[in-house]
Amino acid sequence: MNKIKIAPSILSADFSNLATDIKKVEEAGADILHIDVMDGHFVNNITFGPALIKSIRNKSSLPFDVHLMINPADKYIDHFIAAGADTITVHIELQENISNTINQIKSKGKRAGLAINPDTAINKILPYKEIIDQVIIMSVYPGFAGQSFIEATYDRIKTLRSILNNSRVDIEVDGGVNAENSTGCVQAGCNILVAGSSVFNSNDYKKNIDDIRKNM
Ligand code: DX5
Ligand code: ZN
Repeated sequence: MNKIKIAPSILSADFSNLATDIKKVEEAGADILHIDVMDGHFVNNITFGPALIKSIRNKSSLPFDVHLMINPADKYIDHFIAAGADTITVHIELQENISNTINQIKSKGKRAGLAINPDTAINKILPYKEIIDQVIIMSVYPGFAGQSFIEATYDRIKTLRSILNNSRVDIEVDGGVNAENSTGCVQAGCNILVAGSSVFNSNDYKKNIDDIRKNM
């Protein structure tokens, strides 16, 4: 099996020392940097936009995995690409033309993903499986770090893995991931683990990442 990747979410980092935290997490063994963009409209929280992402782009050599929880998304895609995103994921629950948005991302040579909320049917991903690079399965309702992992996610990962049918599409699980549930997520078929609180909430980032990976 390919290496399981850990993607710390900077939403739980120390914003007053963001560059330092990003460097520390990279040195601690992170594979990807997960960046949560929220607009106070699609979700009930506001984080940051392209300017912040641009300002940290040269602080890390990790791929930037930008998770857009914004509506509309399509008119901002080019701004996030210009800011340094490597992967851009939009939500399947958006009312816009998802194929167009994905094609817009791909046409700029970037990876495109679809995120799916806990109460959205997994088979909605099916029409897009040939054009996407990853799916983010939400294991909490999007909007805030520090929520508890929803147990039904394991079955949803399994269902998605079978729908994707051995394709090259990555499955990333996002929300409440920690050392207790990471093994179950991987056994169910996911290969990227987003972790916010469980990486940043105590000081030893290397130990925290190693603990999430411990049975893999
Ligand atoms: C939730 C975000 C997550 C969140 C993860 O809407 O998409 O990426 O920051 O944080 P934890 O791991 O604390 O749930
Ligand atoms: Zn996220």
